[in-house]
Amino acid sequence: MSKSDTQSVIGSWRQRLARSLHLSRSKAHARFVQLASLGHDGRVHNRTLVFRGFVDNTDQLIMITDTRSDKYMGLIQHPQVEICWYFEKSREQYRINGDVLVITNASSQADLRELVWHSLSLSAKEQFYWYLDKAVVAEIVEQGSIPDSFSVILLQPVSVDYLYLGDEHTRTISQLVHKKWQEKPINP
Ligand SMILES: Cc1cc2nc3c(=O)[nH]c(=O)nc-3n(C[C@H](O)[C@H](O)[C@H](O)COP(=O)(O)O)c2cc1C
Repeated sequence: MSKSDTQSVIGSWRQRLARSLHLSRSKAHARFVQLASLGHDGRVHNRTLVFRGFVDNTDQLIMITDTRSDKYMGLIQHPQVEICWYFEKSREQYRINGDVLVITNASSQADLRELVWHSLSLSAKEQFYWYLDKAVVAEIVEQGSIPDSFSVILLQPVSVDYLYLGDEHTRTISQLVHKKWQEKPINP
C-alpha cells in the first residue's frame, strides 16, 4: 500500500454513498441503480432496480426481485455483478462490483426476507401479484403473507470505482482485501 492509501473494515465509499443519497434525498430516481449481470444465456444483461438500503452494520446492499424473472436464474449461475449508479445532482458515479446472494422462500435468512417485504410500499408489493385483481391483492397483502416468488438480492461489494465530475475530476478505487477496504486515488 502506498502512503495515500487508507484501510478500514467498513468502506469509506459507503459513507460517501450515504452522503450522495442524502444530497439527492428529494429525488426518487436517485435510488435507481443499473445492475449488470450474466444471464443464463451467457450474455450480459442490464436493468434498473431500486436500492432498498444496507443490511445493518455491513456493506451489503439490498435490492428485491421476483424469482420468475430472467435475472433470477442468471444470478444463481453467475453471482458476479456490477452496479452503475449516477447521482445527477452531485455529479458522482459509483461502479460497485461484487457478488450477490439471492434470498428466496427456500433460504435460511427468512428474517431478513420478511423484514424487507414488510418495509415495502403497497404498490411495490402489488408487483408480485400483477396477475390478480387489485382488490384481491389488497386483501392478500393485508393478511401479511409473502408471495413465494419474492426474493431479496444482497450484494457484497468487492470493489468500488468512484468518479466525481466536479471542476476537478476525482477518481477513487476501493478494494476489499482480506476483509478490509483499501482505497487509493486514481488519475484519471
Ligand atoms: C424505475 C424502475 C425500477 C425498477 N425496479 C425493479 C426492482 O426493484 N426489482 C426488479 O426486479 N425489477 C425492477 N424493475 C424492472 C427491471 O428493470 C426489469 O425490467 C425486470 O426486473 C426484468 O429484468 P430481467 O429480465 O433482467 O429479469 C424496475 C424498472 C424500472 C424502470
